Amino acid sequence: MILKIAKMGHPVLRRKAELVTEEDFKSGWVASTVNDMFDTMEDYNGVGLAAPQVHISKRLAVVEVPEPDGIPPTPMINPVVTPVTEREMQTWEGCLSIPGLIGLVPRPAAVRVDYLDIEGKPAHMVVEGFAAAAVQHECDHLDGVLYIDRIKDPKTLMFTDEYERHHSNLEDDD
Ligand code: NI
Repeated sequence: MILKIAKMGHPVLRRKAELVTEEDFKSGWVASTVNDMFDTMEDYNGVGLAAPQVHISKRLAVVEVPEPDGIPPTPMINPVVTPVTEREMQTWEGCLSIPGLIGLVPRPAAVRVDYLDIEGKPAHMVVEGFAAAAVQHECDHLDGVLYIDRIKDPKTLMFTDEYERHHSNLEDDD
């Protein structure tokens, strides 16, 4: 089922989300919510979606990042992010809750994320580059943080079509 996406300004996006409980796993709530979140992410062509973005204030996110940094479709329940490098990167990020905009966001270049998988078993992965940005972006949502909060230079916040016209690497700037 495709769920409705909360847009910036909706209070659910600024709330600190609650931990997913054992009961949430046992009742089948986690499995069905993860299904709906994948349907929704695919319909909107996202690389990640956090539960608060579909009006659910729980610590649950799904990610699917294409190659080369690739992450296969992965649900992350109660995820915790830990940087594994001092190195910082800047990534162009957008958000389904802030449609039409893109901005340049500084973040640690590699992170470890510990989470529960769909069955409630502990899992982790170490990711870098765009995948690391995606994981951090989704986990930020669980703390009520949006990427625009992290932009260092507000001049890098722009409409996606103007970004593609003037700032994309695919063509020369003017
Ligand atoms: Ni987002």
